[in-house]
Amino acid sequence: MVNLPQHSIRVILTHQAPSGAYPASPTFPTYHYSWFRDGAFIAYAMDVVGEHESARRFHDWVVRTILRHREQAERAIRRAERGRPLEEDYLHTRYTLDGEVGDEEWPNFQLDGLGTWLWALAAHVRRRGDNPYTLPSSWREAVKLTARYLAALWAYPCYDLWEEHPQYLHPYTLSAIYAGLQAARAVGVFNLDGQATADEVHRFVLTHGVRDGHLVKQICPPEQEATLDDDLTTAVDASLIGVSTPHRLLSPTDPLMQATAARIEAELHCEGGGVHRYRADTYYGGGEWVLLAGWLGWYYVEAGERERAQTLLRWIEAQADPEGNLPEQVSTHLLAPAHYSEWEARWGPVAKPLLWSHAMYLILHRALERREGH
Ligand code: BGC
Repeated sequence: MVNLPQHSIRVILTHQAPSGAYPASPTFPTYHYSWFRDGAFIAYAMDVVGEHESARRFHDWVVRTILRHREQAERAIRRAERGRPLEEDYLHTRYTLDGEVGDEEWPNFQLDGLGTWLWALAAHVRRRGDNPYTLPSSWREAVKLTARYLAALWAYPCYDLWEEHPQYLHPYTLSAIYAGLQAARAVGVFNLDGQATADEVHRFVLTHGVRDGHLVKQICPPEQEATLDDDLTTAVDASLIGVSTPHRLLSPTDPLMQATAARIEAELHCEGGGVHRYRADTYYGGGEWVLLAGWLGWYYVEAGERERAQTLLRWIEAQADPEGNLPEQVSTHLLAPAHYSEWEARWGPVAKPLLWSHAMYLILHRALERREGH
């Protein structure tokens, strides 16, 4: 029997590139890139299991990559300050393992990954007990630039974490930006504007991102609101878990967060199974995502619902193949079965191993162990 925690650590360490980047999946052609979002959660998992050097190397890759593309970031900030469209100048959601821009067209304007990166970096500094004021100067520069970038651009609609729906703002993305701005402060790159923006983002989510007593998947920019159909304004998305865990725009036991989790549970979590991204998902037929099972379990640990977290952990363990590899999603209960084959024909079978799935498994596994020790 494979020891899944050990195997998960091995999968991540084995595939980490010499540059420090983590490929999303080493065997899936379109995932041979390093995403800030996936990488931030993977680095966090590495810190949680004590593999700090792996996390440090990833953060160092991000710092080098962001500074390499700083001109694009500065141009975007200048445009945002003048209220202009961004054109093609912005930081990408993913880069090659050497930190270069990719060749294929990609929905690259996504802000959540950068916020989550800042959050993971602050967690790395905290866990290692480093003095934030002694961070290498290149790290401080990259943190400062990223925080300025997020503070300047947060109100622009962008692609969500599933790389879709660019015409909206997304409470999950906004919570990642909020966490990122707080994290920049925690590592000593404090800036009053950043704090004021974090407060504004917080207010914006609570004012525009709530319907029927729960958070919603997306928010329309004001000029579009009238044209949105009802389903879109009231739907939930499993990533909303991240608004509290880990981004703490709300606490896990806040009634609004609990109402949101209850909606996710009812609409997206199959009894005894995994978790769908959102009801209208058609990517590979809309399967159950392993990383979301880990994420929901992590939320349940923080909300004090251990049993539910245990059940999700067991479900993930049952999805590993004989070598212990975890896929991105499991296709046994598809929301839109007719769409499976078009994706398979385009990109091949579902990505496996997906490093982010292994990371979320590790985070949940350790969170449950820690609670047991208490
Ligand atoms: C997901 C993203 C993810 C990327 C790489 C996409 O299919 O929607 O959230 O970052 O894959 O894993």
